[in-house]
Amino acid sequence: MCGIVGYVGKNDCSEVLVSALSRLEYRGYDSAGIAVFENGNINVIKAEGRLKNLENKMENENFPKGSAGIGHTRWATHGKPSDINSHPHIGGEYVTLVHNGIIENYRELKEKLEAQGREFYSETDTEVVAKLLDFNYEGDPIKAIEKTLAEVTGSFALGILFKDIPNVIYAVRRGSPLIVGVKDEEGFIASDVPAIIKYTKDYYLLEHDEIAKIAEGSITFTDLKGNPIDKELKTADWDMDAAEKGGYEHYMLKEINEQPDAVRKTVAPRVFHGMPSLEECSITLENLKDIKQVFIVACGTAMHAGMVGKYAIEKLARVPVNVDIASEFRYRSPLVGEGDLVIIISQSGETADSLEALRVSKALGAKVMGVVNAKGSSIARESDMLVYTHAGPEIAVASTKAYMVQIAVMYMLSFELAFAKGRIDEGECKRLTAELMAMPERIAEIIKSTDEISHEAAKCLIDAESLLYIGRGFDYALSMEGSLKLKEISYIHSECYAAGELKHGTISLITDGMPVIAVATQSDLFDKTISNIKEVKARGAKVLLICGDGFEVGEDVADMVIRVPMYEEMLMPMAAIVPLQLVAYYSSVLRGNDVDKPRNLAKSVTVE
Ligand code: F6R
Repeated sequence: MCGIVGYVGKNDCSEVLVSALSRLEYRGYDSAGIAVFENGNINVIKAEGRLKNLENKMENENFPKGSAGIGHTRWATHGKPSDINSHPHIGGEYVTLVHNGIIENYRELKEKLEAQGREFYSETDTEVVAKLLDFNYEGDPIKAIEKTLAEVTGSFALGILFKDIPNVIYAVRRGSPLIVGVKDEEGFIASDVPAIIKYTKDYYLLEHDEIAKIAEGSITFTDLKGNPIDKELKTADWDMDAAEKGGYEHYMLKEINEQPDAVRKTVAPRVFHGMPSLEECSITLENLKDIKQVFIVACGTAMHAGMVGKYAIEKLARVPVNVDIASEFRYRSPLVGEGDLVIIISQSGETADSLEALRVSKALGAKVMGVVNAKGSSIARESDMLVYTHAGPEIAVASTKAYMVQIAVMYMLSFELAFAKGRIDEGECKRLTAELMAMPERIAEIIKSTDEISHEAAKCLIDAESLLYIGRGFDYALSMEGSLKLKEISYIHSECYAAGELKHGTISLITDGMPVIAVATQSDLFDKTISNIKEVKARGAKVLLICGDGFEVGEDVADMVIRVPMYEEMLMPMAAIVPLQLVAYYSSVLRGNDVDKPRNLAKSVTVE
């Protein structure tokens, strides 16, 4: 994910910027660049690939040391990794900036600026905000920032240089994090504490719509109207390892908390005038219209994301969807051929069975769409159509944010396919897309509101030898993922069953005190799930129910209830997965396991 740094002070600015960027490498990036003031000019240098490429280029071109500047590592979202698309971006005569996050309405803004005669050199949303800020700048940075922020939507952090205000950095954030570090006369900006911890542990946390002005020996904060703000100086008490986890105890918890941003980055760039648009991934309404059936092929968590995709696509687009485990699919002479769409979902893009399933499908004449997180991976390279998920690097072995963005893509695809097939009209497509666009903020709320109760729930589970997850429809698809998450990191045996299937054998496993986790978020299936819960409860099960907050639940139904707000029902997996992830996480912590590196598991499974 993109990283921002900035420095004002007596030291060699270029060196500080590159060193700070190197501390953000763990976030993942595909290009880097810096911009520094020198003798009233702003010098910009950028290079695709590793930071070393940037350093070599700086040396070859004798790049100035600079007195103040900004730097950036880019994880491509809008436009491919390239020198041109890398940051910093130049907005015109005055503005040069770096950006983390997403400008959701960049296409509309670009059209407007083009109509005003501004020309664009890159494919990025960042250049749009740089050009807009430059357009709005009339000598007062705060006014220009205020005006610009009134026009942009999305979640972002910006580090800005104005050419006529040398050796000063302006920074502003809305959504994406940004800190302002301080040490004596030196000032810093950074997306994350690790970037500056080598230089200082003292920092301010920039809040939503606050502007920081960093000059040598002075750091001031204002709101968008220019009113001064007093801020509390914080001191990081982390070592480097903790700093890289953003202060969280484990990568898994950090990644759970990164889900809102990951969804935003995955969805927002693909919405145009309110409609989903996967055209940049070579997916057009024209080629979706003729699809006869869909196969979703993947492993583990990615396969569970495919299950959600199946329910969404079949419900909305009325196209038959088969979900296959890749290791089965590749060897079972699948009935796949021309006119079929095979979707391969993979975080790593290197899973051996998924990659082989892709090759089998292509050989049989099907079109293959990769839904992949790791840029440039084998599945990404070999797919006919490619939708990158923008979760950023996922370090914990147990997948959380990658799953979340995989299901977000499944929803986008189901909306677009349904529209292409004439199953929903433009109004409905826009309504569903708006609901999806609203999910990041909702997910953030749910992480906060279910954290403590999920911790409590985990305490009731950790001594269990075995437990069951049950649900129906979308809740069944979701419970499969909840069950996998729990078993892989807590080592408690668990199985997931379609709630209606219990009576066909599995219910004989229920003994006194056995935990059952039930998920009920779909109103048409709610009563049926409750009946199934009563059946297990009557046989002694201890029930944890995760359900929508609009449902009435009798006192005797569950031993513990975790409520999540109700939204568009088909999107409820994005809400209800959060407490399931947290329950698994806390169960692992409470059992003293190595949460991020569970035994016997690898992050990328490149053997069959
Ligand atoms: C579980 C998990 C795995 C992966 C599976 C596929 O938390 O992460 O089940 O989902 O190994 O990996 P990718 O998505 O890299 O193909």
